[in-house]
Amino acid sequence: MTAILPHGGSLINRLAAGEERERLLQEAEKLQTISINKWSISDLDLIGVGAFSPLTGFLNEEDYRSVVKNMRLANGTVWSIPITLSVSEEDAAQISIGETVALTGQHDGVIYGVLKVGSIYKVDQREEAVNVFKTDDPEHPGVKKLFERSPIYVGGEVTVLNRPQPERFGEFYFDPAETRRIFAEKGWKRVVGFQTRNPVHRAHEYIQKSALEIVDGLFLNPLVGETKSDDVPADVRMKSYLVLLENYYPQDRTFLGVFPAAMRYAGPREAIFHAMVRKNYGCTHFIVGRDHAGVGDYYGTYEAQEIFSNFIAEELGISPLFFEHSFFCKKCGNMASSKTCPHPKEDHMTLSGTKVRGLLRDGVCPPPEFTRPEVAKVLIEGMSHQVII
Ligand code: ADX
Repeated sequence: MTAILPHGGSLINRLAAGEERERLLQEAEKLQTISINKWSISDLDLIGVGAFSPLTGFLNEEDYRSVVKNMRLANGTVWSIPITLSVSEEDAAQISIGETVALTGQHDGVIYGVLKVGSIYKVDQREEAVNVFKTDDPEHPGVKKLFERSPIYVGGEVTVLNRPQPERFGEFYFDPAETRRIFAEKGWKRVVGFQTRNPVHRAHEYIQKSALEIVDGLFLNPLVGETKSDDVPADVRMKSYLVLLENYYPQDRTFLGVFPAAMRYAGPREAIFHAMVRKNYGCTHFIVGRDHAGVGDYYGTYEAQEIFSNFIAEELGISPLFFEHSFFCKKCGNMASSKTCPHPKEDHMTLSGTKVRGLLRDGVCPPPEFTRPEVAKVLIEGMSHQVII
């Protein structure tokens, strides 16, 4: 059996190397520049390494409109989140279609890549918000970010010239070509991907291990790009994943690698996006639990699962594995879900994120049925060094 095909059929590689890179860097010095923030640098890099295959650049107008409306690129390929480059009115006025521009880091002036301008277009951000996030409430963290940006987008193919360098945990960054090679070397034919922006609590562990029962390997792929300020910071989470894997997971069936993307909090649409991206990393299966990529009460508990029924299996390529709300049941005496446990809510141990954060902030370990004590210890230590709102 050959490895699962990347989305769109082939793994995109837009990384310049060697002499070509030197030449492009020299040329880029003379080009018109657009300065880009860390979020866009991360998008650029993920396009470059093929994590966002089949995208070869930031969306052009035709693809953008099609993605926003139909969750598909203009050629029909499934794509649910617009990956766009927003530019100021002043920057937009300086560039024209067909021109190549340099993309430089707002914070460090590094030339991260070049973009061949395919389109410059103004969007209706409210319409984008309602379609992508199902709300235009500015309190929604994804909508808030969207409304903070300029509504002028520039689309076009990119070439990456410099990669953003991780400040910590560099050994857990793998490009899709690498994870694909690693899974093959391990002899894993069926790999389940797990997205998370949280510490791994017992419910996460339960659904991961339930999935692992039917595949060869688990790719624990925590998102470590930009998240909202009250999510647990990525470096604290990384420590918690390591201690958990060391103590409770089979080393030869688990692989930890980060997903350096920004969190959109787009719930159902983001679940589709997360699945497509994990396919590019070489996963054959992808876990979608309760309120995947959700925030607040914007999405129904299982909406991120239901959205998959809009597509046929062949066009998704990766198999979603759906899990119902999971918890520890005192009567059952083990982890269970609303699908497998007959007991009433009162017997279930469920804690809200807010409640757990409160306990950890006060230096109190949540019950072991909720979080492994080793994980709780790391989180308490980590939080005592952070100002958590
Ligand atoms: S997410 O924003 O990255 O989706 P989180 O890290 O909480 O948030 O969730 C990671 C994955 O675990 C998602 O697929 C989510 O649906 C699932 N999940 C989280 N908690 C539970 C739970 N108690 N029961 C079932 N699935 C869950």
